[in-house]
Amino acid sequence: MAGASPPPGTQHSGGRRRLRDDGVRTPTSAEQTKVEDIVQEVFDACKSNHHTPQFLLQREKHFHYLKRGLRQLTEAYECLDASRPWLCYWILHSLELLDEPIPQLVAADVCQFLSRCQSPQGGFGGGPGQHPHLAPTYAAVNALCIIGTEEAFGIIDRKKLLEYLHSLKQPDGSFLMHLGGEVDVRSAYCAASVASLTNILTPTLFAGTAEWIARCQNWEGGIGGVPGMEAHGGYTFCGVAALVILKKEHLLNLRSLLHWVTGRQMRFEGGFQGRCNKLVDGCYSFWQAGLLPLLHRALHARGNFTASQGMSVPSLAGDAALSMTRWMFDQPALQEYILLCCQCPAGGLLDKPGKSRDFYHTCYCLSGLAIAQHFGSGDLHHEVVLGGPENRLQATHPVYNITPEKVMRAVMHFLQQPLPGVEPVVAAE
Ligand code: FPP
Ligand code: ZN
Repeated sequence: MAGASPPPGTQHSGGRRRLRDDGVRTPTSAEQTKVEDIVQEVFDACKSNHHTPQFLLQREKHFHYLKRGLRQLTEAYECLDASRPWLCYWILHSLELLDEPIPQLVAADVCQFLSRCQSPQGGFGGGPGQHPHLAPTYAAVNALCIIGTEEAFGIIDRKKLLEYLHSLKQPDGSFLMHLGGEVDVRSAYCAASVASLTNILTPTLFAGTAEWIARCQNWEGGIGGVPGMEAHGGYTFCGVAALVILKKEHLLNLRSLLHWVTGRQMRFEGGFQGRCNKLVDGCYSFWQAGLLPLLHRALHARGNFTASQGMSVPSLAGDAALSMTRWMFDQPALQEYILLCCQCPAGGLLDKPGKSRDFYHTCYCLSGLAIAQHFGSGDLHHEVVLGGPENRLQATHPVYNITPEKVMRAVMHFLQQPLPGVEPVVAAE
């Protein structure tokens, strides 16, 4: 289902509202006003230009930018030399969202490259010969699951990976990002994500982890990097997704979390900010908007179904009910922001107008667009595709951020393999 394209700002119920600083100008309000001015210009240009299609996803342009990135990178990417599995994941996931097949030769090359990033200690490093680290480990496992072939699955040394995860586990339930490194909620998510996809998730490995993550939820309602820190979309996504994997979402105050995340969608721009009083950024289209499907699920599990009103949920204020067709954010407004403000005319997506494109923002802007287009899954699925069906992306799994089919395929594959270190039970004759 796809609607026509009315002018920007008319799509969503609340209407656009610019910042009111009550006459008190601060560096923060000045920055915000500057961004709103630029976004206003983009929206006005769109309204007055009746010749070009208003909300067009530049598929071909993005495809060419991504395809080239798989083969050669400019020197601007030198600083990401310790994040090369991330580049593989960002590009492959963007391609799967665009429904572009990955050529066999490219898939084989990526497999071969990632196998060289795998450490003899277990886990993956940022490049061949580099020390293992949970962030590239997460990216490498996701990239291999997107490729989804026997060759790709076969690269992951599950026994070593399990040993590596154990070596990072802390007595309080948290995980180090790497040996000798820092602890924060990203590591719990990376560990839970790779362990659940490859069927090495054990109660011992994650003992105390859910409780530790719950301690990172603060008075704002969102989750900080460690207990006591400011709530941030990146960490909040990691914390909630990890709790969903561990089936412990109920440890969070879901109502204050919902309040916090819905307040991060910008009233004027339509995109999300990462934390209170900061600027809109396209990458939070996934880190923040991706929380709403996770919250919907968690609240749904708590709710009582009422056929006419959808789902009434005790954790929601008053008589609020969970919709059965919409996430609890303004989906068209987010699509407007991504399509109008985050597309580089030469291909690739970006943070906000005036910034440069990169593969990270391309991946997370497209992932957020997919979240905003697709509600639900399976039989209960409802699409809101701004700009027409040609803008439709493949859906993404809100926990792993790869397509649901690829999650299913990986889970089915690794379920057939026993937990490493545990001898298969041989039935007595
Ligand atoms: C602040 O950046 C950013 C952070 C404090 C961390 C963000 C974390 C993620 C994006 C999650 C990473 C996920 C995995 C799986 C490793 P900033 O101060 O430049 O930006 P801001 O002004 O928007 O807050
Ligand atoms: Zn960003």
